[in-house]
Amino acid sequence: MPDQPYLPALPLAELAPGAMRCVTLGDEPVLLVHTKDGAVHAVHNICSHAFAKMDEGRLRGNRLICPLHGASFDVRTGAVLGAPANAPLRSYPVRIVDGRIEVQV
Ligand code: FES
Repeated sequence: MPDQPYLPALPLAELAPGAMRCVTLGDEPVLLVHTKDGAVHAVHNICSHAFAKMDEGRLRGNRLICPLHGASFDVRTGAVLGAPANAPLRSYPVRIVDGRIEVQV
């Protein structure tokens, strides 16, 4: 099966280091995260525990904290770092092309 295409998401200049923003790509709500160390990551914007929008949560380094019950995830991989969630967030490959963030959804 061929790889899914990368979809243009946002100009990198519109996402400052330390900021995050939800965009819709295809049918997916995707949270773009620009960490303070300069990396850009993309994870699903809905918490794996219940229904909460992760873009309403907080970012501490690479740790993304859910606004509803406080579960935390590694934005680099979507892995669970703290309860009560026990399933990871879906994580998407990201690339930067000509100053634009692109995500493989
Ligand atoms: S909805 Fe995110 S921790 Fe419960």
